[in-house]
Amino acid sequence: MTSRPTPWPYPRWIAHRGGGSAAPENTLAAMRAGAAAGFRMVEFDVMLSRDGVPVLIHDETLERTTDGAGEVSAHDCADLMRLDAGRWFGPAFAGERMPTLAQAIDCLQSLQLCANIEIKPAPGFERETGRIAARMIASRWPAGAVPPLLSSFSPAALEAAREAAPDLPRGLLFETVPQDWAVHLRAHAAVSIHCDQATLGDAMLREVCDAGVPLLCYTVNAAGRAAELLAAGVAGLFTDRLELPQRLCA
Ligand code: G3P
Ligand code: MG
Repeated sequence: MTSRPTPWPYPRWIAHRGGGSAAPENTLAAMRAGAAAGFRMVEFDVMLSRDGVPVLIHDETLERTTDGAGEVSAHDCADLMRLDAGRWFGPAFAGERMPTLAQAIDCLQSLQLCANIEIKPAPGFERETGRIAARMIASRWPAGAVPPLLSSFSPAALEAAREAAPDLPRGLLFETVPQDWAVHLRAHAAVSIHCDQATLGDAMLREVCDAGVPLLCYTVNAAGRAAELLAAGVAGLFTDRLELPQRLCA
């Protein structure tokens, strides 16, 4: 059984997809942008290549964020590594590659960043993605460092991650927090609830926070909403706007 880390070791502000809107999502350049903006934690998405290598990408298909085409799961890692994952965002990022999870872990360590690693399996690869990603994280993450917080919309991926690396903390990721969230939390031995801030009503916000369960909200890009959620006691905010924390503190 995974117990909730106490005190909660993660910063409140989390750069969404590595560097929010400052750099191409899910790249090492994004992590560097997040760190340069003062973030101490980043979130990113992990999927498997055809040959079972965990890589960083959000979509199941390549078109939006690379110069490739087709499904991520239909390409071997070596082919994915040849794609340009930066030019779509802007010419300054041309040549940026899609990182493997192993490269991302090394980068996080060199930047001294905490991470929320979202396991984002392609349909049909839920258990495999959870198992392989968790195994790699457990074997590469330095002992003594704050462990990454795993999360997934896929309960099957999260369960497989739990079996492969029971000591890694896991968060349940929902678009909308269900009424029976506490049942799910127990069933998965998860330590936190992650949800879309847009679907989160005041009553549920209070219920989870009052229960002392860390609540992390995505994607919070409006200063007013961020202030409201922080005042209510949320544990984490994922944002695309890297200037937001400083703006709120000013
Ligand atoms: O993990 C929080 C958030 O990243 C979930 O949504 O679609 O941006 O991966 P998405
Ligand atoms: Mg994500």
